[in-house]
Amino acid sequence: MTDFKSVREQFPALNQTVYGQPLCYLDSAATALKPQAVIDRVNHFLSLEAANVHRGAHYLSDRATANYEAVREKFAEYLGAPSAGLIFTKGTTDSINLVAQSLAQGIFKVGDEILLTQLEHHSNIVPWHNLAMQRNGKVHFAKITASGQVDLEDFEKHLKTGRIRIAAFTACSNTLGIFTPVSQMIELCQRYGALSLVDGAQLMANERIHLTNLGCDFFAFSGHKIFAPYGIGVLYGRSEVLSRMPPATFGGSQISEVTEEKTTFLPPPQRFEPGTPNVEGVLGMGAALDFFQNIPLTDIQAHEKTLLKKLISLLAEFKNIETYGSLELPHAPIVSFNFKGVHASDVGFILDQQGIAVRCGHHCTQPLMRALGVPATVRASLSIYNNEQDLIQLQQGLEKAQELLFGNTNTVR
Ligand code: ALA
Repeated sequence: MTDFKSVREQFPALNQTVYGQPLCYLDSAATALKPQAVIDRVNHFLSLEAANVHRGAHYLSDRATANYEAVREKFAEYLGAPSAGLIFTKGTTDSINLVAQSLAQGIFKVGDEILLTQLEHHSNIVPWHNLAMQRNGKVHFAKITASGQVDLEDFEKHLKTGRIRIAAFTACSNTLGIFTPVSQMIELCQRYGALSLVDGAQLMANERIHLTNLGCDFFAFSGHKIFAPYGIGVLYGRSEVLSRMPPATFGGSQISEVTEEKTTFLPPPQRFEPGTPNVEGVLGMGAALDFFQNIPLTDIQAHEKTLLKKLISLLAEFKNIETYGSLELPHAPIVSFNFKGVHASDVGFILDQQGIAVRCGHHCTQPLMRALGVPATVRASLSIYNNEQDLIQLQQGLEKAQELLFGNTNTVR
């Protein structure tokens, strides 16, 4: 069994105090902290290896190119996908925009329709609203059930019209932590002839997927949620689809030839990576994958499941806390809750004063907030570096919040 104490020790950010309290970091769904190995890899590249990729005729450039492409190969192996299908982007948002703006140039016909779900993050809504506006299209939302899961019947009902060109859906709700039935959703898209895009941002730190077996047309994720630096991520595209897609942004490095009259483009992935890329981001993301793969995934899942169970039972101790979405469904270590009648920001402020980092607000999921009937939630999310002490600190923080918000009444169950 992995020694998670030594895993925790690899995260220098946890070795600090906030307002005089040990940092209790419960915001990994927003971004994961960075292990020393990732920091060192970025530092080493910037200190000694910095050179541009794909264009140099010198030692450092060749080495940077080889290291950069080796990360693509590493992810291809990890994700069960051909490396030509993996495009480096700025992150999930950028990946989804790339798909939407490429489809806008012709594959998405005027009047076509888009299917999303009520669970989606704004990054998987706004680019589609924009595409619909450009092409006189329409965006539909599949409803969620009372437990917070995607309503598959409603999802299928929309696909049955035959008008959906692409369905884009999360594999795991960033607000509720619920894993969605992606395989079934992809199968439904295939059955009704729609393209499928999976937002994998919250999945990657919790599950390993095999993209070829999964069968989706696109899969997007961000490096920073899997211990990598910011501003780097991946878009996977199935080769049959990618090869038909034009680029969405334009510049050097992606071209086969430029004449005064026109440009012709390289095949994927270079076609979609114009300009100087985020080389240190890619190398840092490679180091993050090495770090993550060194810990057996079953150990990570067991560790996080134990902590999640404790988090759920500690929240249940407070009679005026309500949680959102079924906690029985397959779940990432993410829980949204509120003190009844209290705005999430007030709770977040009190917790912050005690060194506890949570996210408060709509979590960039306003349609979901409307479906839940609340303006905002407090969200606690866990990762490999959290421990039982973090949960004790949270419990004490919530007791303090309760005292300040409700007075010294006996509100603990
Ligand atoms: N998508 C990130 C979150 O859920 C930023 O907090």
